[in-house]
Amino acid sequence: MAKGKKVTVIGTGNFGSTVAFIMAMNGTCHQVVLRGRNYDVAKGKALDMSQAANAARQHTIVRAAKGPEDMANSDVIVITAGAPRTPGMSRDDLLTKNAEIVKMYSREIKEHAPDAIVVVVSNPLDVMTYVALKETGFPRERVLGMAGILDAARMAHFIFEKLNYGAGQIRATVMGGHGDTMVPLPKFTTVAGVPIDDLLDSEEIGEIVKKTRNGGAEIVNLLGDGSAYYAPAKSTTVMVEAILKDTNQIHSCAVMLQDDYGYSDIVSGVPVMIGAGGAEKVINMSLKPLQVERFKKSVASVQEMINKLYELNFFK
Ligand code: 2OP
Repeated sequence: MAKGKKVTVIGTGNFGSTVAFIMAMNGTCHQVVLRGRNYDVAKGKALDMSQAANAARQHTIVRAAKGPEDMANSDVIVITAGAPRTPGMSRDDLLTKNAEIVKMYSREIKEHAPDAIVVVVSNPLDVMTYVALKETGFPRERVLGMAGILDAARMAHFIFEKLNYGAGQIRATVMGGHGDTMVPLPKFTTVAGVPIDDLLDSEEIGEIVKKTRNGGAEIVNLLGDGSAYYAPAKSTTVMVEAILKDTNQIHSCAVMLQDDYGYSDIVSGVPVMIGAGGAEKVINMSLKPLQVERFKKSVASVQEMINKLYELNFFK
């Protein structure tokens, strides 16, 4: 067992591989373990990435897991496993199939890596985070879903497309579930500290909000076979780094709400302070009535899917 930080990535598709690759290139941790269905593929990718890390003069070693026991002592485990969307599918169409996959891996994590912090990115993301919480039995601090960072990055991109300046200085905020009802928050969005409604008119902002909600689907349609992975993977590694470096920085993430924003026992995207303990603090912002209404709608759409799982007797 190598000393230092260890991150396991479950799923060796485009998303999982890119998460692992970014960490290997950045030297985010000492060891990345790739756990995939096919050991040879995981091993091939692990070798390739370890060799790339050497080219980049990084110390990260990437290995393939032979079985669930190789996840032991992971500081962070990223669950990317699951079927991706194809054109015409919403993230929610993946519900039952991916719920079974996330359940299986969550049970393995509970057994082999009971102290790990879990970052969930399989879709539908908020529901999969809920499944991982229930199936690991971990406290809410240790099970987080990625998405707010990605959705905010997409919003920032669309703002830049409109403005043609400010790239890298745009701080966008998106709350709610990672689905069609996500809640982009222009009122909490700035370019170098300047509120965007000082830079764009309401029609332009409305267009950006719409494009942000459709950001994932746009890429699914263009690729024709699977969903986006570069921005999702980068957003995931931002969370992993915040945990490993104990940054205590605020990022929008999917977490279990416990008396937050008036909700409990439901996962949704909210601003969270991330540190070595995971989601160490949920930040409750004061929202305007329209934002409250949109957040409510978003929470309800996640609740509907969770209810479906309960109806199917999924949690037993
Ligand atoms: C996306 O929005 C994969 O859900 C992810 O692209």
